Amino acid sequence: MEFSIKASAPEKQAGACVVVGVFESRKLSPAAEALDKSAQGRLRALLRSGDMEGKLGSARLLYGVPGVAAERVLLIGLGREKDFGVTEFRDAARAALRAVQDTGADEAYFHFSDLPVAGRDAAWKVQQLALAADEIGYRFDRMKSRKGDPRPLQKISIAATSRHDAAAMERGLLEGRAIAAGVSLARDLGNLPGNVCTPTYLAEAAVKLGREWKLRVEVLEQKDIEKLGMGALLSVARGSRQPPKFVVLHYTGAGKKDRPVCLVGKGITFDTGGISIKPAAEMDEMKFDMCGAASVLGTLRAVAELKLRLNVVGLIPTTENMPGGNATKPGDIVTSFSGQTVEILNTDAEGRLILCDALTYAERFEPQAVVDIATLTGACVVALGKVCSGLFSNKDSLARELLAAGDESWDRAWRLPLWEDYQEQLKSNFADFANIGGRAGGAITAACFLARFTRKYDWAHLDIAGTAWKTGKEKGATGRPVPLLTTFLLKRAKK
Ligand code: BES
Ligand code: MN
Ligand code: ZN
Repeated sequence: MEFSIKASAPEKQAGACVVVGVFESRKLSPAAEALDKSAQGRLRALLRSGDMEGKLGSARLLYGVPGVAAERVLLIGLGREKDFGVTEFRDAARAALRAVQDTGADEAYFHFSDLPVAGRDAAWKVQQLALAADEIGYRFDRMKSRKGDPRPLQKISIAATSRHDAAAMERGLLEGRAIAAGVSLARDLGNLPGNVCTPTYLAEAAVKLGREWKLRVEVLEQKDIEKLGMGALLSVARGSRQPPKFVVLHYTGAGKKDRPVCLVGKGITFDTGGISIKPAAEMDEMKFDMCGAASVLGTLRAVAELKLRLNVVGLIPTTENMPGGNATKPGDIVTSFSGQTVEILNTDAEGRLILCDALTYAERFEPQAVVDIATLTGACVVALGKVCSGLFSNKDSLARELLAAGDESWDRAWRLPLWEDYQEQLKSNFADFANIGGRAGGAITAACFLARFTRKYDWAHLDIAGTAWKTGKEKGATGRPVPLLTTFLLKRAKK
């Protein structure tokens, strides 16, 4: 998709389709008002006829409107003006993009920057439009023998509200497009099936990303992982015929001595549960259990494209979780890379086992902050549903930064407690602690497990089990939380 920011009156812009919004009770947006004037009241007449009531997300397409240079005018309902906010803006943008895509128009000219959204500037609206366009245009047909036809819509122009805003809007567009490309990469990797996207494939995807974006990438092989003594990661890989990998990516946008932000992504390319095997229903969705890793790659892509002035290290422990003759059994005790011993009471709680060794590895970078991203617990989905990610942190200011980044990019998170009180649920009679803490507060005890490996730095954990993919008719990876993470890093880089 080609994007541009343009400053011209809506009625004068020649081309395939001009898009404007109308509120309920026949209230026109400023751009719709201008069109109506030029068209001598044609839009108002339509509203009076009752054919367009302005309900949020509704659409009406008009052809050959007199006094308007564009071939088509697309009216998008915005709902009630006093209710209009972030969600409504995003819904209207999505509805508009879908409606344009249903026409043969190759170009659309959006007049959405002047819609009033409290607390959000024109640059934000542009960023959201660019993200929405990619989200709606996204298709995953790599595994289908018949690919979809190319879409007619090629070009989106966005009206500049003023010359003064145009520069900020260009920046918003740049950021939106970089984030969208990162999201798209994360979705592709997530959507690939487990027989294609193996640990080896994921490591190769990282190497390829490194070549394209000048990242330094190291891939530690099984023997390297053994030499280091990552006993927890290795215990998960034992049941699989696929060798595990540990991928380290370096983006250097600041001085060599600048302390990096570390992003750690869970890379289980398929989670059967291991010996504590999962039920058959929906087990296919466990191919998405590497979406944390995919979000690290997507975010690094965005960071590199935006040339952010900070250092970022991506860490990806990746393996399958399979039952097999050699697999870890309930009751087995392993020694983690930190030296702490873990009694594995449930082999399906494998994410924390691969993450804990990566979190210990992160210490060597003396990071300014570490954020891990993981489809870690079904309990997090029970607690928060699929609207927001679960956030845990040992540092209030870091938690606040991440919550704010989620709010700004509308890739939201909600903080849950990490109190010591929960730690006792991880008690083991035989090892330093166990890898599960019972049903109560399952997302929290999983985070508490990780907290035992992150005492040396500022750390946050994002449980994306509910947000990384959609189920049902729209089954597929979402690319979240690439927008949250990139926005967080954008802000850190500007500091
Ligand atoms: N990958 C799953 C978490 C998950 C489950 C994400 C369902 C999305 C939907 C994770 O490895 C897992 O199996 N967690 C267990 C932990 C339990 C054994 C303590 C869970 O959530 O049931
Ligand atoms: Mn599991
Ligand atoms: Zn898992």
